[in-house]
Amino acid sequence: MDGVTLIDHPLIKHKLTIMRKKQTPSPLFRALLREISLLMGYEVTRHLPLENVDIETPITAMSAPKLAGRKMCIFSILRAGEGLAQGLLDLIPGARVGHVGLYRDPKDLKAVEYYFKAPTHLDQRFSLVVDPMLATGNSAIAALTRIKKAGAKEITFLCLLAAPEGLKALRAAHPDVHIFTAAIDEKLNEKSYIVPGLGDAGDRIFGTL
Ligand code: URA
Repeated sequence: MDGVTLIDHPLIKHKLTIMRKKQTPSPLFRALLREISLLMGYEVTRHLPLENVDIETPITAMSAPKLAGRKMCIFSILRAGEGLAQGLLDLIPGARVGHVGLYRDPKDLKAVEYYFKAPTHLDQRFSLVVDPMLATGNSAIAALTRIKKAGAKEITFLCLLAAPEGLKALRAAHPDVHIFTAAIDEKLNEKSYIVPGLGDAGDRIFGTL
């Protein structure tokens, strides 16, 4: 699908299979999500611009590349986004972190905002919005609308698992936002869970099953 990158890597696939298993306990689930976020982070940051700076090695002076511009912003969609954001922060410790708190209204499954905090100068930063599960797309669409309202211009969305329905909805609502995912599953069930999926990501990360 246009605007969607499936990060196809044997290590990610193997780790994801363990995460999907219902017997996998929270500590292992969290550790695997962190490891996958490092592997995916490597891909989603591939395009970041560089600039050369003058440095001195113990041997000689040289002009060497560093990341250009303002620090990027990782936006975590609470609460499951935290599982991906923490690993990405290990990879990019200087990144700023924004939070978007949304809950799903059980009546119509629409996203309702309860928290928003973002760094300044969003218009000059690359924003990476993370949520492990792209199901209906409602939360992601609402989060991206809010993040754009706060000023973000260059935005990428990163998830672990996507349903075809969520991908379609998100691409339609935010065609300028590129989506990276580690897998595209079959469908949503009647409760809007991804099938085969891995269950409720937040519950599995935080042990609230
Ligand atoms: N959110 C989850 O955590 N899991 C799903 O399958 C769908 C949405």
